[in-house]
Amino acid sequence: MDPNKRTASGMRPTGPLHLGHYFGVLKNYVALQDEVQAYFFVADWHALTSDYADPSHLLANTHSMVSDWIAAGLDPEKCVIFRQSAIKEHCELSLLLSMITPVSWLERNPTYKEQQQQITNKDLGNAGFLCYPVLMASDILLYKPYGVPVGEDQLPHMELTREIARRFNSFYGETFPEPQALLTPSAKCPGLDGRKMSKSYNNGIFLAEEFGDVDKKIRGMVTEPSRIRRSDPGDPAKCNLYPYHELLSSAEERAQISQGCKSASMGCVDCKKIFLKNLEAFLTPLHERRQKLLQNPDCVWDILEDGNKRARAFASQTIAEAREKMGL
Ligand code: TRP
Repeated sequence: MDPNKRTASGMRPTGPLHLGHYFGVLKNYVALQDEVQAYFFVADWHALTSDYADPSHLLANTHSMVSDWIAAGLDPEKCVIFRQSAIKEHCELSLLLSMITPVSWLERNPTYKEQQQQITNKDLGNAGFLCYPVLMASDILLYKPYGVPVGEDQLPHMELTREIARRFNSFYGETFPEPQALLTPSAKCPGLDGRKMSKSYNNGIFLAEEFGDVDKKIRGMVTEPSRIRRSDPGDPAKCNLYPYHELLSSAEERAQISQGCKSASMGCVDCKKIFLKNLEAFLTPLHERRQKLLQNPDCVWDILEDGNKRARAFASQTIAEAREKMGL
């Protein structure tokens, strides 16, 4: 572990985490905690940028997301787990960075434009939503990380973060290293219906889900559309389930499944059985850790309280430096 090298990342507490979160980002969190000093936070202010009208689930979602993190293998002894909204330095740096961020950069951000168009059940015309990337740049730059584990959808935000860092450095002298995005290789994890895995489509497998429920979902799932009868040959590249074998099954099993599918010597039921066996082996230790943690549910708040202190200790140094550079 290199204590002088840091990473920082956060997730909005919007609901239970699914396999897409795990293989897209969380797995990377777990690996990074052994390599560098890691700061992982609940981006609750970011959740408010779009869910401001009904914040009633925020605390419960914070608790369940941190439980999911620890179940997945994050260890509060190794990394710092905290709440964004407990560290006012995020907010202060966001204000400072907003001074040097052109509004045009925010308006042309592809994520911003896309969500404005696609999300029709909420009014996203608020200033906080426009300034989302400035707050995110602050979350990151406060910890001066070399890299930030994120999903691919966050790349435009990472680019803006680097642009803002560069602009700050050009005005006030070298202060913020430009962080790189750390993507998880081969993280394709579609929803069970082939669309993006998402709670709102109800097509996900959740980390905390009872194995019996998953089992039912998988048995009912559509696999390869051209395999109508057991004797029809198929193509794993067109199957909704096969990407999961890439994530959870051994090379040997994959070869056997792929060959069996193409030649129709293996049916979808048997293929699903292999998947369910591997999924159970994957989920069992997560469920055990979650259960142990939740013997005392309040310890999640204690972990956050302790993490807040450690995060603040670093963030307050950066903010002192930024204030001074900006003439305050
Ligand atoms: N925008 C991220 C998401 O929607 C959440 C986030 C907020 C974040 N601040 C961050 C991610 C800083 C990485 C670093 O998932």
